[in-house]
Amino acid sequence: MGEVPSIKNAYLIVEHARIKEYGTMRDLQPHEISKVIDCADTVILPGYVDSHSHAVFAHTREAEFKDLIKGLTYEEVAARGGGILNSAATLASKSEDSLYEEAIARVMKLVYMGTTTLEIKSGYGLSLEAELKMLQVIARLKQAFSEHGNDTLLTKGATLTITATFLGAHAVPKEYKDNRDAYIELIVNEMIPQVAAANLADFIDVFCEANYFTVGEMLRVIEAGKAHGLRAKLHVNQFNSIGAIPIAVKAGALSVDHLEVMNAADFAALSGAATIATALPSCSFFLGIPYAPVNKMISDNIAVALASDYNPGSCPSGNMNFVFALACVQMKMTPEAALNALTVNAAHALGLQNEVGSITVGKQANLLLFKGIDNLALIPYSFGEMMVSRVMVQGVFIN
Ligand code: NIG
Ligand code: FE
Repeated sequence: MGEVPSIKNAYLIVEHARIKEYGTMRDLQPHEISKVIDCADTVILPGYVDSHSHAVFAHTREAEFKDLIKGLTYEEVAARGGGILNSAATLASKSEDSLYEEAIARVMKLVYMGTTTLEIKSGYGLSLEAELKMLQVIARLKQAFSEHGNDTLLTKGATLTITATFLGAHAVPKEYKDNRDAYIELIVNEMIPQVAAANLADFIDVFCEANYFTVGEMLRVIEAGKAHGLRAKLHVNQFNSIGAIPIAVKAGALSVDHLEVMNAADFAALSGAATIATALPSCSFFLGIPYAPVNKMISDNIAVALASDYNPGSCPSGNMNFVFALACVQMKMTPEAALNALTVNAAHALGLQNEVGSITVGKQANLLLFKGIDNLALIPYSFGEMMVSRVMVQGVFIN
């Protein structure tokens, strides 16, 4: 993870939205090129792959932010009527159209900041109807940002790859408080089959945590998802280590995300495993909780990815440049390891490693141009500054 191969004085050819060829200028053969862009004094990186977001939501939760400032913990805020259930209450009454309009504007802001592949979760529905509504919004975003999508003012013709994750098991709704089993039954017997039948999700997720879902409940949902072709990407070890990781790895989870609190058994289960460990440092920053111990993970032979966790409660920022900076400044990752975690490893965390995440012939031409710099470290070093000059998604510059 510590290595990022690079070429100085390079050329790169894009054709039909994909990377066709690259090399040093010295080796460039004569080509018929329709448009040449001079990238002198520019660092070019693969676009960021944000493999964990909750970018569809009904309202911001700055009232809870004020409580966090006063010193309440995330769990205390949730216990007072904030948290995921607060978001679910407002989402229930908001129309699919307005959720969609707000989300598309939000996503476009992320693209300008360099996100060129994005995972979005449901999980603020928590009823069959509202979960389907959220997933429908994500499906409409996929369509709007697809090759055949409409080139509206908002999408600027950007053809972003978006994946959808069904997170019905995000919190136990109030009406099921004394009958949790019935909610799990609803997820397993009704939500998952309908979500899968309508092809509304690529992955399945569970928030496995004290006061949310137990390891046993998580496993039931993982298995039901698997039976419907949905691989698991899971919220685990955010506040407590309750045994989710060894079970998740054994069940073949594609990724385990958060990982702020890790014990020896968790490290051992992930070491050498195919499951990607995804750290979410902006969430740690915002809630004031520990950062995931990523350098110990890397030295234990664990594949680490970084994502935003963009959501209204624990991380109201989807800026991957800030994730990059926190990874280096707070988690002490090298810029090279952080970049790999933000791109190629994150692509693996979405099963999209053959499509996105690196400058590789045949992959999507998702490129970030950083003008006026000549090395990688300057990007996280200049935290808080917008270092991305231009963004190309699938061969199209959006700015
Ligand atoms: O990843 N931890 C669970 N889910 C989100 C928070 C959701 C919310 O507070 O709205 C997270 O941090
Ligand atoms: Fe999350």
